[in-house]
Formats: sequence, C-alpha cells, structure tokens
Amino acid sequence: MEKLVITGKTPLKGEVIISGAKNAAVAIIPATLLINGVCTIDNLPNISDVKLYCDILKDLGSKVDWITDHKVVIDNTNITSSVAPLEVTRKFRASYYLIGALLGRCKEAQVGIPGGCNLGARPIDQHIKGFEALGAEVEVSQGNITAKANVLNGTTIYMDVVSVGATINIMLASVLAEGTTVIESAAKEPHIVDVANFLNTMGADIRGAGTDVIKVKGVKELKGNAEYSVVPDQIEAGTFMLAAVASKGDIIIKNCITKHLECVAAKITEIGGKIDANGDHLRVWCDKRTKKANIKTLPYPGFPTDLQPQIGVVLSLSKGTSIINESIWESRFQYTDELRKMGANITAQGKTAVFEGVDELYGAPVSATDLRAGAALIIAGIAANGTTEIYNLKHIDRGYENIEEKFRKLGAKIERVQEEE
Ligand code: EPZ
Repeated sequence: MEKLVITGKTPLKGEVIISGAKNAAVAIIPATLLINGVCTIDNLPNISDVKLYCDILKDLGSKVDWITDHKVVIDNTNITSSVAPLEVTRKFRASYYLIGALLGRCKEAQVGIPGGCNLGARPIDQHIKGFEALGAEVEVSQGNITAKANVLNGTTIYMDVVSVGATINIMLASVLAEGTTVIESAAKEPHIVDVANFLNTMGADIRGAGTDVIKVKGVKELKGNAEYSVVPDQIEAGTFMLAAVASKGDIIIKNCITKHLECVAAKITEIGGKIDANGDHLRVWCDKRTKKANIKTLPYPGFPTDLQPQIGVVLSLSKGTSIINESIWESRFQYTDELRKMGANITAQGKTAVFEGVDELYGAPVSATDLRAGAALIIAGIAANGTTEIYNLKHIDRGYENIEEKFRKLGAKIERVQEEE
C-alpha cells in the first residue's frame, strides 16, 4: 500500500506549471468518437482517468497512439462497437459521456450506469431527458443504460438543474443531429467551452458555450484532421493557490487562465492573501494569519465545489468562525472528519459546515475519501506541525498529475512511500 508522508510547516516557494484540465480531457476523449477520421489532442494531463478512457476507446475500435505523455493521436475511422465495456464504465463516473458520443455517432449506445460515488447521489436524469428530447429511446436496466434512435432531431431543451455533465452530453449527442439543438440553462464551466472549441475545431457548429444558452447546428460529419490543446486545469491552479495561502508561502503559478480563477482570487483577497495576475501567470502569497469568510459553492462563475475542501483547510486555520454551504454535492464534507484528526475544529451537518479557526494543525494518519479531499489533506499536511501520512492515494492519482513532485519543487517535504500491508 502506498502512502504520502509529509513533514509540515513549510511555506511554499517557487514556480509550478499547471497541467491540462482533467474534466475537459475526460469529455474530449469520448468526443473524438464523433470524428470519422484522425485527430491529435495535446496538453492532456498524465493521470489515470485519461489513460483509462483511452483504453475504453480502444475496446470500441479506436486506434490510440501516444506521442508523448501528454499528446495522443486518435483514429476513429473504424469504430466497431457501440457497446462500452460495461464493468469498467460502471466504476468510472465520466463514462456517461460515452452515451452522448456513441448515440451521436452510431445512433445507439450501451454503457454501464456510472455508479454513485462518495460525493452522494449523482443522478443522470437530465442527461436522459436531453437524449429523449432529441428522439432517442433510453432504457435503464440491469446496471446498464441503453440509448437508441433512428434519427436524432434538434430541439430546444430546458435543463431543470445546471449540470456540467448533462450540458456536455447533450452537445455530444446533437453535433451530428438533424437541425438545431438549443440548450437552455446550460452550465458555463471552462471545460464546457473547451469541449465546444474542440468539436468546432473538428468541424462542428456550436455557439454560445460559456453562456447559459448553447446552440448546436447539426453537421453531416466531423472530419477531424486537426490538432487541439486542452485548456489548463482551473481546479489544479486553484489547489496550488490555496496551498500557497495555507502554508503562508509565495508562489508563481504558470500556464493558467486567470479569468477562470477570479472567484477564488477574490476569496483569497477577502481573507488576507495577496494575488498578482500577469498574463498566464499568477503570483499568490500570504504573510499573515488569514481571516474568516463565508462561502457557498455554486456553478461557474461561482465558487467551485471542486475547491471547497481545499479552502476548508485554509478556513480551519483562519481567525474566527467561517461557514461553508455546499450547494452542489450532498456528501462533500467527509474530509472534515480527517481534518479533525489533525486538530481542526469543524462541525459539519448536511450541506453546511462551521469552521472555528485553530492556531495550528498537527500531523496525523488520514485517508483521502475522494479526489479533492485528498488534495485538501496534502495542503493540510504541508501547513501542519509534524508528520502527516495520507492513505488511499488512488483518488488523488485519478486527477492530479505528479502532485507530490509539483509540491516538492515548491519546497514541500513530501514523499510517496510503499508500506507493507
Ligand atoms: C462535474 O460533475 C465534475 N466532473 C465534478 O468534478 C464537479 O464537482 C461537478 O461537475 C460540478 O462542478 C466531471 O466533469 C467529470 P453536475 P457532474 O452534473 O457533471 C445534479 C471532481 O472532483 N444533477 O454539474 O457529474 C447533481 O446531483 C469532480 O473533479 C442532477 O440532478 O456534475 C449535482 O447536484 C467530482 N441530475 C448538480 O446537478 C443530472 O442529471 C451538478 O452536477 C445531473 C446532475
């Protein structure tokens, strides 16, 4: 069993380069299924979710050639199956994009129902509503979801909740449909814009991505024959920003889109941290104890749920009482149990957590309950007195490229250690 061992109380200093966005990559890879030809994708993060998705594509007939750790050439000229490997897709949340992509390409798809994960219930009713509105018949049974259509016809779809996954999935299913599809109350996250830009580069006609109305004019074919570079990871950049503040460090974050980070930057400034944005660089520093703040997670451009655990660490150490209201996921406070083991004073109930700021956190053995919880525990370990051991690293490795190496370059004392079972 692997664990991360962190010796804390190190102010981070230096530069870090942000990788391509995980949540854009896990949508763009299945989106290639809509291309009747070859495409090249660059700036992919080197993480296990991306590798797994490329393996799923191979099962469907894709030719996948890795040119470097971050660049892949995918040839989807000969897709041989519309049935995804069911067991794998059941365990892998972002496999839901295979339904929209295969439905768009083959007019049929069978995928294992992406299982609930440890953030609480994760329904896909809005995805299904969108596919049905386009003319597909959708059946959910025996752990699988099957979608079929003779023809997909564009229409206007009013989303009942703002959903990243459903917005992207409906875009995927409608790119090759007859006529125009309008998605009302669409999500606006940077990776939605990135998937639309990718599809447009390959020959699609999508307008309005990044606003709450997206229009997809169906085209006959996506020819591909183009190269696309994935957007930098907003959440990875935000994670390092909050690590700089928690550790009272001073770092430069390179290769980020500062516009995507304005909401996090505003919160950091509110609590006493300092930010200087300069082109695609961001300097973040903090030289005094931070102050309390209240936060409510919201869809973009609001404060991202995927940075909630990381700012929770900062508020655990801030002066005064802070409140976080988590409005997206019902179980995203599991990390607070782990932080309490390190001396944090947090009371979490339902979707609200109250943080009574403490002067210090202390190293302890803790477990990453999910991806962002894992990132938060690394930040806590770097800011804490003493030694922290973090277990259950598979969650962290799913979504962060070389995380311990990036933190080590910033001066953190962090090692991956093999422990006998
Ligand atoms: C995406 O999940 C991200 N995952 C999540 O990232 C992120 O937390 C989330 O968006 C919110 O930003 C990927 O992009 C792969 P949603 P997604 O559909 O698309 C409800 C991470 O750590 N809902 O926007 O699954 C849902 O219950 C993760 O990287 C429905 O009710 O999220 C939630 O309350 C974890 N019905 C809200 O909408 C639906 O059909 C937003 O979910 C779909 C969603």
